[in-house]
Amino acid sequence: MLELNGVHAHYGKVHVLQGTSLEVHNGEAVSLLGRNGVGKTTTLKTIMGLVPATGGEIVFDGRGLTDLAPHRIPETGIGYVPQGRGIFPTLSVKENLEIALTKAPPSQVTDYVFDRFPRLKERLGQPGGTLSGGEQQMLAIARCLVMQPKLIILDEPTEGIMPILVQDIRREIKAVNDTGVSILLVEQNIKTALRLCSRIYIMEKGTVVHEATAEDLKNDTETLHRYLGVTV
Ligand SMILES: Nc1ncnc2c1ncn2[C@@H]1O[C@H](COP(=O)(O)OP(=O)(O)OP(=O)(O)O)[C@@H](O)[C@H]1O
Ligand SMILES: [Mg+2]
Repeated sequence: MLELNGVHAHYGKVHVLQGTSLEVHNGEAVSLLGRNGVGKTTTLKTIMGLVPATGGEIVFDGRGLTDLAPHRIPETGIGYVPQGRGIFPTLSVKENLEIALTKAPPSQVTDYVFDRFPRLKERLGQPGGTLSGGEQQMLAIARCLVMQPKLIILDEPTEGIMPILVQDIRREIKAVNDTGVSILLVEQNIKTALRLCSRIYIMEKGTVVHEATAEDLKNDTETLHRYLGVTV
């Protein structure tokens, strides 16, 4: 459903994405891993049109995204939870949820979202900036869900979250995926990636250098060590 073919991107003269290719199939949960600064966030921003692609193609459900204006991309069915969550701190929880909508979502959608995130329902009038880190992450996910996306891309959703809440966030992402929504997850937390995703891509210096099933990667200590510097 989402396909990146040899995508390039620059910040000024700095050539950050150097031919990134990856695919997310319908209903799949896929993770993109890699050390700091390899271009994971840039890959997601390029999908969302927030950084222009300077080469290659990005296709979603048969439609090229690189020529679409950034504000048209969520309309195609891609939700984005940015690194650092992107919550508007002075707007209320309710206003944060509604900001990207042009019309009110059907009540079954809001009911579903509030069933999943009762803490948000209790805090609808509270400024987004006063929520805890974990609650802000839930708000960022809920804001995607009210738009009824087919694919959600999340950039380090468990970064800086208390360990006890990491499980909650994981459970919510899993629940979303179980409803048939595809997931593209950027993670530093290899455990989260291996638990939630069936396939993993590893990036280094602006390109994807390794692709494996989560099952295979789990046992591939050499690859884990070489590209991620971790042992699981
Ligand atoms: N706005 C910008 N202007 C110039 N360079 C940038 C900009 N944003 C990112 N970069 C550079 O592009 C490279 C890739 O950054 P990116 O944020 O995509 O990495 P990342 O893999 O998401 O890292 P992290 O794991 O730390 O979030 C880095 O070298 C970074 O310094
Ligand atoms: Mg990043």
